[in-house]
Amino acid sequence: MDGVTVIDHPLVQHKLTIMRKKETSTGSFRRLLREISTLLCYEVTRDLELTTARIETPLEEIDAPILEGKKLVFASILRAGNGLLEGMLELVPSARVSHIGVYRDHETLEAVEYFFKAPDSIDERLVIVVDPMLATGNSSIAAIDTLKKRGAKNIRFLCLLAAPEGIRHFREAHPDVHVYTASIDRQLNEKGYIVPGLGDAGDRMYGTK
Ligand code: URA
Repeated sequence: MDGVTVIDHPLVQHKLTIMRKKETSTGSFRRLLREISTLLCYEVTRDLELTTARIETPLEEIDAPILEGKKLVFASILRAGNGLLEGMLELVPSARVSHIGVYRDHETLEAVEYFFKAPDSIDERLVIVVDPMLATGNSSIAAIDTLKKRGAKNIRFLCLLAAPEGIRHFREAHPDVHVYTASIDRQLNEKGYIVPGLGDAGDRMYGTK
């Protein structure tokens, strides 16, 4: 699918299978989410631009590779996006974090924004928006609308599972935003859940209902 990368790394796929199982406990689900997010972060950042810095090893001076540009921003769509943050920040501890509160109205399935916080110079940074589930696409589209309104230009979207309908909707709204996912599942059901999916990601990671 154009503009979409499926991260098919065997460790990602194995961990995802355990997360999907209905008997996987809240604790295990959270631990797996942290582990898998580290691997997803590795893939979503694999083509970042490098520059060089002059450094001294104990033996000699060299021009060694370092990441180019300003610090990355990880933008979490509350609340389930926070489950992906921990592992990603382990890998990129200097990243800045944005929180975006948008919820899905269960009647209309439309997104409503209630919170937004982001670092400065967002227009000069790569922003990686994270939410485990790309279902209808409404909340991720709304979150990215908000980021673009505040100046963000260079955006990627990272999720764990995506529905084909959600990807189509998302790509129509934001064709410039590349989507990274561990799986494209079969479809959305009538309640807007991804099937086969893993259920409600927020409930599964926090033990709520
Ligand atoms: N959000 C979830 O947590 N799960 C789904 O299947 C769809 C949206």
